[in-house]
Amino acid sequence: MTRFITIQPIRENSYSITIAENYEEICIRVAEQIARAVREKPNCVLGLATGSSPLGIYAELIRMYRDEGLDFSEATCFNLDEYYPLLPENPMSYHAYMKENLFDKINCRKWFLPDVSKSTDLEIERSCADYEERIQACGGIDLQLIGFGRSGHIGFNEPGSAPDSTTRLVKLHPMTRADAAPSFGGLPHVPTLAVTMGIKTILSARTLIAIAVGESKAEIVRKSLSDPISSLIPATYIRTHPNARIYLDPPAARLLCERQ
Ligand code: GLP
Repeated sequence: MTRFITIQPIRENSYSITIAENYEEICIRVAEQIARAVREKPNCVLGLATGSSPLGIYAELIRMYRDEGLDFSEATCFNLDEYYPLLPENPMSYHAYMKENLFDKINCRKWFLPDVSKSTDLEIERSCADYEERIQACGGIDLQLIGFGRSGHIGFNEPGSAPDSTTRLVKLHPMTRADAAPSFGGLPHVPTLAVTMGIKTILSARTLIAIAVGESKAEIVRKSLSDPISSLIPATYIRTHPNARIYLDPPAARLLCERQ
């Protein structure tokens, strides 16, 4: 498809930036990449994300399952994060989101989200370690999808998250909570905590696909791609991954072309 502009940076790691014509093009490109991974390795391990950005990708995967017989029966999926302590039956949980927007509509039976049912520190620590072990037991994540939070988070790794962090309980950034407030019916209803895969967990994936859509992401995309790599903006760590592909729509990429 010649409509895409791909920028191959010559410094840092071998990440690529694709500025697609629009959101639909991102969804088709990314869904194709996920479908290829599943076809080439039926028992592949996918890392999945939530938020509004992946919705079109999931819709395209559902279409491929329905119309093209894309078979997820041997694949395993691990989600990045979950609000603490929203149990699966809570309609605002990411578990409910994944069920409604993907897993109820394809034939994947092995899908997991971080466990947010535990209450003591020790139990939480143990269930986070179990999540990491389960990922390892499946052979590690082949392809991880992530979005950019406006705070600079990936998963729910907010500013200050260390590059060697693994799955753990975290406190949400005020900006993250404010962004989620409309869907929760107001800020007081937004959880203050979440369990998220760590930066190390995310960067251990063999392929990383990062997507950003819309004008509201332009500033954090610019910072993530040009500021020094540090835990102040966890999304800068994407640049250290050996095989990261970044997909942006034109509004999200807008500030990349401006001179600093
Ligand atoms: C939440 C998720 C992130 C996601 C972010 C962006 O905070 N935990 O994983 O990247 O939302 O969401 P959106 O795609 O709606 O902008």
